[in-house]
Amino acid sequence: MSITIDRNLAMELVRTTEAAALGAAPFMGRGDKNAADQGAVNGMRTMMASVHMSGIVVIGEGEKDEAPMLYIGEEVGTGEEPEVDIAVDPIDGTTLLSKGMPNSLSVVAVGERGSMYYPPHIVYMNKIAVGPEAAGVIDIRASVEENLGRIAEVKKMRVQDVTVVLLDRPRHAELVEQIRAVGARIKMISDGDVAGSLLAASPGTGVDVLMGIGGSPEGVISATAIKCIGGAIQCMLWPRNDGERDLAIQAGLDLDQVLTQDDLVKSDNVFFAATGITDGELMQGVHYTADGATTESLVMRSRSGTVRRVLATHRLRKLKEFAAVPFD
Ligand code: FBP
Repeated sequence: MSITIDRNLAMELVRTTEAAALGAAPFMGRGDKNAADQGAVNGMRTMMASVHMSGIVVIGEGEKDEAPMLYIGEEVGTGEEPEVDIAVDPIDGTTLLSKGMPNSLSVVAVGERGSMYYPPHIVYMNKIAVGPEAAGVIDIRASVEENLGRIAEVKKMRVQDVTVVLLDRPRHAELVEQIRAVGARIKMISDGDVAGSLLAASPGTGVDVLMGIGGSPEGVISATAIKCIGGAIQCMLWPRNDGERDLAIQAGLDLDQVLTQDDLVKSDNVFFAATGITDGELMQGVHYTADGATTESLVMRSRSGTVRRVLATHRLRKLKEFAAVPFD
């Protein structure tokens, strides 16, 4: 980095997640994931062009040949300093949105150039994430019983009162059994483990820890948010089969490495913005009014540790710029 980032880039980036949410929200419940994604990408990309930065998409919509926009390697922003890595997830929880279910978000994470970890070919990571109080006690290699016991102890709770959020997937059958054997509570989510990590790391949500296997990109994006909130995340690459395992080994990836938030984003100056698309526990989604729409967003910066909530009203004219559906 040739200059330090002194301005709070997240304050500008939130406009990109708002635009993505506005682009995607008309597709709520329509059962068309591709159209929703296209709407979100259009909105985010349009706004991204006006952010004063020289960004490279490190985590995006896929490789150039499969994603026309916001693909990995795409340069975004005005091209001015600072030079940054960007991770985008225009919709985390595409299925949630397509069914009109809670907690779909639009998310952007930014760190200094070269700071973001991205394991090619490895789709999933095993994860554990907590908020600041339990940041020093988790260990992904330890048993579920040990982790939940330690979390309960530092949070001065009974282990039966600890709530674990995890994706509702068959691959988690054993994990669910282990949590139940300890007696802790479980909150299953059908999608969206960035929202799951935010719930685990943020105070007052009633969720104490996220556990289980979810997307690798979402792991890196969650790590950025957790660096701002002050909690901890630990991840391990989770190859789905021998083919992925071989690819990982060929690429020199260490499958036994515990990746902390500092390995996933090697920068202490990171920025995170998220806007609700459907209503959720963290933020309201996009709501329409006669004149336009409202959005709610979270805006965070690690250096200051500031977490802002941004409520915005958007005029009809702006909706027309982003939305792939008519607003006349
Ligand atoms: P998308 O919205 O990009 O489809 O991701 C949703 C999601 O639930 C992520 O939050 C999560 O990390 C991942 O999918 C889990 O993958 P899978 O659905 O294959 O278990």
